[in-house]
Amino acid sequence: MNYKKFIGEKIKEIREKVGKGKAISVLSGGVDSATVTVLGHKAFGENLKVVFIDNGLMREREPENVVQTFKKLGIKVEIINAKEKFFKALKGKIDPEEKRKVIADVFYKDIFKKILKKNRIKFLLQGTILTDIEETIAGIKRQHNILEQIGIDPQKEYGYRIIEPLKELRKDGVRKVAKLLGLPEEIQQRIPFPGPALAARVIGEVTPEKIALVRKATSIVEKELKNSGAFQYFPVLMEDKATGIRGGKREFGNIIIIRCVQSKDARIATPTKLPWKILERIRKKITDEIPEVTRVCYDITPKPPATIEYI
Ligand code: XMP
Repeated sequence: MNYKKFIGEKIKEIREKVGKGKAISVLSGGVDSATVTVLGHKAFGENLKVVFIDNGLMREREPENVVQTFKKLGIKVEIINAKEKFFKALKGKIDPEEKRKVIADVFYKDIFKKILKKNRIKFLLQGTILTDIEETIAGIKRQHNILEQIGIDPQKEYGYRIIEPLKELRKDGVRKVAKLLGLPEEIQQRIPFPGPALAARVIGEVTPEKIALVRKATSIVEKELKNSGAFQYFPVLMEDKATGIRGGKREFGNIIIIRCVQSKDARIATPTKLPWKILERIRKKITDEIPEVTRVCYDITPKPPATIEYI
């Protein structure tokens, strides 16, 4: 594909679709939404509203980092605090697909709907990619950003239209576009992060406490595996517990599973053969720095039969 041409065509296409209306772009910190935002900014300049929804499920310092990164690109980002809304909606939900649906509903039916209505914006730019669409259609999992492809008409249901300029690309293609658009290297190469955010890495009910725990573990894993060259790496907090020993006493503690995979575009993945030394270091940091965890395991399952994420 000629990515330079792709960029020019997409800018023209979104300008035509939006016409005299207004558009908004919602950042998640990942490469897809960042790329769409820069495309939108090229199309509309200051007239593109850019927001970051702080849903309480993001990684450490994510809102601040996003604002800073985009400030350097000359793009102003507004942070919207919606933590309570998400935790309230997730309370008591244990089924993975239900958790995904609840998160999508808070975004689309509540937050986006209100912001767009208040600002008289009719178009939402979104970083959906081909893999998201394919997995949802195949019934593997409901990617949180898929609507039209599963029969939801956002205009009819929520009162706004969705534009998805990256929907023909996979992750590797998006990274190429991001590079051509001049996005910083750390965003271009950032490992994928799911729409339901850290809620996808907590099995069972999502609570602020469990998110705080998995957030700490995520910082450790991301730091330790930064130079691993892997496609994606993250910890997951299990719902089950296991017996351990702390301070010479029995403790029924939490279990963290480390996932680290090689992949080109997330359709298939193989577990990375990490050196034992690195695994040991991660284990030590997690059990030293997160006392609620008594057990750390490494996942050796490829996709398929597993998926990359746990929900
Ligand atoms: P799975 O777990 O299906 O994930 O093997 C494939 C890739 O997609 C990411 N992922 C998501 N991305 N919205 C997204 O934009 C989502 O709801 C979502 N769920 C999973 C996942 O991290 C992996 O890279």
